[in-house]
Amino acid sequence: KKGEAWSARFSEPVSDLVKRYTASVFFDKRLAKFDIQGSLAHADMLAHQGIISAKDLEDIRRGMAQIESEIDAGKFEWLLDLEDVHLNIEKRLTELVGDAGKRLHTGRSRNDQVATDIRLYMRAAIDDITALLRGLQSALVDLAEKNADTILPGFTHMQVAQPVTFGHHMLAYVEMFGRDAERMADCRKRVNRLPLGSAALAGTTFPIDRMRVAQTLGFDDVCHNSLDAVSDRDFAIEFCAAAALVMTHISRMSEELVIWMSPRVGFIDIADRFCTGSSIMPQKKNPDVPELARGKTGRVNGHLVSLLTLMKGQPLAYNKDNQEDKEPLFDTVDTVTDTLRIFADMAQGITVKPNAMRAAALQGYATATDLADYLVKKGLPFRDAHEAVAHAVRSCDDRGCDLADLALEDLRKFSSLIGEDVYAVLTLEGSVAARNHVGGTAPQQVREAIARWRTLLG
Ligand code: ARG
Repeated sequence: KKGEAWSARFSEPVSDLVKRYTASVFFDKRLAKFDIQGSLAHADMLAHQGIISAKDLEDIRRGMAQIESEIDAGKFEWLLDLEDVHLNIEKRLTELVGDAGKRLHTGRSRNDQVATDIRLYMRAAIDDITALLRGLQSALVDLAEKNADTILPGFTHMQVAQPVTFGHHMLAYVEMFGRDAERMADCRKRVNRLPLGSAALAGTTFPIDRMRVAQTLGFDDVCHNSLDAVSDRDFAIEFCAAAALVMTHISRMSEELVIWMSPRVGFIDIADRFCTGSSIMPQKKNPDVPELARGKTGRVNGHLVSLLTLMKGQPLAYNKDNQEDKEPLFDTVDTVTDTLRIFADMAQGITVKPNAMRAAALQGYATATDLADYLVKKGLPFRDAHEAVAHAVRSCDDRGCDLADLALEDLRKFSSLIGEDVYAVLTLEGSVAARNHVGGTAPQQVREAIARWRTLLG
């Protein structure tokens, strides 16, 4: 009779439908490694405190080692009847080592056990994601370095605004992913506290040593209130919010990659291995990876809302609702991890087309602001300079030419302050080079920002 974990209290078993409805083993078995790690730390503490014997501890260690190897070998038999990862492992332990297995759960509940498992899982996930963010940043810094001098139009409202360097544009994303890494590090501080010892909700009557368990598991501290420790999942929500921002940044970048790869724009090409063709149109090469990443951002945003909604109606302390935290959390980790890995790889497969970028920057009067600034430097108030250049742009629009195509005498019709030196400021190179201060687009600033990031990324 497998799996009637609390039978004496019950006069009939749950129906098969309820069993399936309440079970979590088929998704929470991914916590197995952390569940074992937590159990071993708990057992070590129980033995150290004299709550179980040294022999019990030895048996538990031996049994858990066997279970781990069974899981690794894919030979562990996961049973729906045993509801979740915790009961599956505990039951197998007892099969293997007898009474010591039955003593493991002394002073512990699945409520503090599962909260501990999730925190251990999340800590590892945060460390992975942080390393992947760093990897993507490095790939983008490489791309920026190769294109410190490459000029493309910068846009506001999707209208040509001012020329920028492609290196500067890539470094904008490096900044965003840098803040994402900071948010992960900040979230990690609150993840890295130990719930174990809270037992079901009120603590335990056994003389436990929570700090010892915290130290064994590498937690910075214990959770200081048992009711809070077993019930809140705010740390998971925080993580999902940080993950949603990672995906938001990925999605913005994706949108740009898709636009840039459109033949109408043609600023970049993405290596074939990241694109797919069409089953009907032989000529097609579609940027599937960035499109899909943009789409997957939706599901990560959805998971954040799921967890917020899951939490909002729960009275203290643990409620079974919390079992629903896992799938959104796991899928968030999987989606963000895969996406970051693929993007770091894809960044190396981006071919920049400087001629197309340059041609686009030469349309749309990208250096009009430079002309206005030029007039200000000659003594005109900025508002008057703005108006004078607006007239010049309008006249270019009528003639179908660029500001730099106007002859000096034509330009002087808009302001007598304009001299021969104006043509230097109307070039794309002059425009970007002039924005030479911290945070500006000048190639020199791009190189300095790259050096700074190289140091930060190690
Ligand atoms: N599978 C449960 C979860 O994921 C473990 C905790 C269950 N505790 C309980 N008292 N039913 O949250």
